[in-house]
Amino acid sequence: MKTLRVPFLALVLAFGAASLASAGDALALTPPMGWNSWNKFGCNVSEDLIKSAADAIVRTGMKEAGYQYVVIDDCWQVSRDGSGRIVVDEERFPSGMKALADYVHSKGLKFGLYSDAGTKTCAGRPGSKDHEEIDARTYAEWGVDYLKYDWCHSEGQDTRDSYQKMSRALRATGRPIVFSICEWGSTKPWTWAPGVGHLWRSTGDIQDCWDCGKSWGGMGVTHIIDQMADLYPYSGPGHWNDPDMLEVGNGGLTPAENRAHFAFWCLFAAPLMAGNDLDRMSEEVHDLLTHKEAIAVNQDPLGMQGRKVRDDGPGEVWMKPLADGSRAVIYFNRGTEDRKWSVAWEDIGLAARTECAVRDIWKRRDVGVHSGSYEVTVGGHDVAFLQVTPRP
Ligand code: GLA
Repeated sequence: MKTLRVPFLALVLAFGAASLASAGDALALTPPMGWNSWNKFGCNVSEDLIKSAADAIVRTGMKEAGYQYVVIDDCWQVSRDGSGRIVVDEERFPSGMKALADYVHSKGLKFGLYSDAGTKTCAGRPGSKDHEEIDARTYAEWGVDYLKYDWCHSEGQDTRDSYQKMSRALRATGRPIVFSICEWGSTKPWTWAPGVGHLWRSTGDIQDCWDCGKSWGGMGVTHIIDQMADLYPYSGPGHWNDPDMLEVGNGGLTPAENRAHFAFWCLFAAPLMAGNDLDRMSEEVHDLLTHKEAIAVNQDPLGMQGRKVRDDGPGEVWMKPLADGSRAVIYFNRGTEDRKWSVAWEDIGLAARTECAVRDIWKRRDVGVHSGSYEVTVGGHDVAFLQVTPRP
């Protein structure tokens, strides 16, 4: 049994200081929420797909739950014209990007695009290297609100310089554009990217599986959780660690695994970019993606990333301090059998005999006032997700 303890006050001070180092604007003060085409549709993007995703975000209540950025990932671009301006795939986007951005905006949503700091995108389309200014100006003219900026085909380039260059170009347009850095954690962006971008990928690509893969080519949910564990001091309002987009609802995870995946992304204060087919969501997936109490943990204004506070073999306890003095707590069962165990208030930074009101976030139900600890049974690959509030 291993308890990982850091005085709570020290944590609050550390995180408070980190939160001052935001990008210097008022963007992404809570983790960005939206939908991105890549995880489900890959290169198969089109105007119709994006419009129907925007429609679905409104129709399904996802907009009301907080999702706002509709982001086209790779493969919307085909070439550059004689003046160096990026050319959109006219067959797939016959009305052009400005018209599509207008459509997304007309739904009360925001519009995002993808490019790459190197010569080509990961799918081999034109990258933005040496075209940063003209690309940033073009995006601003179209009405882009969010740019995801990848790192393929960047041999010999310096990450910090390359991302800084696009960051300046975006700022020079005068349009508020959230800048999403995507160099997969390769040069520890959490040490240099606050002030350059609003979020940065901290891991390789997510794969739609529980614990498969463990490489840059793709990794399952549990490997990403592990890679996030030590990065908690670096996230905060305006500067987020990004463990990649959600695979919830893409078919590779069981209902319990979907729950665990979503709960951890909420506890991590991770950007919540849904990556599934919104027109074909099961009731269970819809309930999870729009779970307001879970999302409130993710969007908590304190902006702290949760951390592991206890490791008991296949059972782990993770905790995220919230702005109102309560804590969001995950009991994580990595094993396959049901597991019953108890978490002591001391593990989550409270005095042993504190009386705490406990709320079961999944069940949206108060489960009593408890002194010292709380016991719960959690199924395999599942989580209990609680809010623990000390009584005055
Ligand atoms: C990289 C990124 C992914 C996705 C693809 C697109 O692998 O990490 O998220 O954008 O490129 O080609």
